[in-house]
Amino acid sequence: MITTSASGNIFLFGEHSVVYGKNAITAAIGLKTYCEIEKREDSLVNISSEGYGNFKLRIAELKNIWEYKERMDLIKDLVSTYYQKFKIEEGIDIKITSDIPKDSGGMSSSTAVLCSVLEALNKVFPKIDKKDYYNFLIPFQRKIHGGTASGVELFSSTFGGYNLVKTAPISYKNLGNLELPILIINTGIEAKTSETVPYVRRGWEQDKESYKEIFEQIELLVEEGEKAIKNKDLVKLGNLMTENHNLLAKELGVSHPKLNKIVKIALENRAYGAKLSGGGKGGVAIVLYPEEKENQITKKLEKLNCKVYKTEIGVRSCQDL
Ligand code: MEV
Repeated sequence: MITTSASGNIFLFGEHSVVYGKNAITAAIGLKTYCEIEKREDSLVNISSEGYGNFKLRIAELKNIWEYKERMDLIKDLVSTYYQKFKIEEGIDIKITSDIPKDSGGMSSSTAVLCSVLEALNKVFPKIDKKDYYNFLIPFQRKIHGGTASGVELFSSTFGGYNLVKTAPISYKNLGNLELPILIINTGIEAKTSETVPYVRRGWEQDKESYKEIFEQIELLVEEGEKAIKNKDLVKLGNLMTENHNLLAKELGVSHPKLNKIVKIALENRAYGAKLSGGGKGGVAIVLYPEEKENQITKKLEKLNCKVYKTEIGVRSCQDL
């Protein structure tokens, strides 16, 4: 039996503007999805997952799914596509477990599932180079998040560390593995990327020039952020994160009072910086902080009735265990 894992991830900089061809930086987090895989003697594909459910089908019964009605459809679609594309004839058992809360909206639980299952299949029936994982997985990501999803989170779940990513044309640059403690705060407010992306698009359509300026300001933060990671300058990195939050909140209108409150409290308690991460309007916020402030900041944030996850960013991903 082989066990693989893939990280969830967060947007350190550049969510939303990345949809308009600008750079973003995503980072792999210490919360992961794990996949145990073993070949079978027969032609059954038997998959079980704590969060997604179970299915057992013969290889001949595998088929693509165009619209996901239940959670397991994502995994069924991925496995069917892999089997059909590469004409695999041997059955498998796969067991999926995860540290990532499945409805966190902002930690990319589905991206981690896709990457860990692909990595597991690819370990047993090696067919795809890692640099092609994005191209293979983006159709599934789009079926979950809507047609315009950039899917750039896939790079951090595949390669780990920090990734400078861009669409149109798609490109990535791995910025290494500087492991830093981070708090991820789940507001518990559900917000779908398939709604926040069209929300920004409506604004952009009405006034492209003003939005272009904001996207360019965010792009500058991304450039500075890349340098701050390289220089391990956490004070700078934190300030840039907060600046990015302010642009997302005040200019693009994708924050939420609870996200703003999290950022405010984190900064009042001497965090380096804080911001919403992902589509916004709910979902999660992230806080970069000096280690000695961890308890103080966590206690204050927990009073907001939010779930606070202590983890790291910049970790390795898609590794065998
Ligand atoms: C959502 O996690 C991130 C966005 O930039 C959308 C996308 O990149 O597809 C808002």
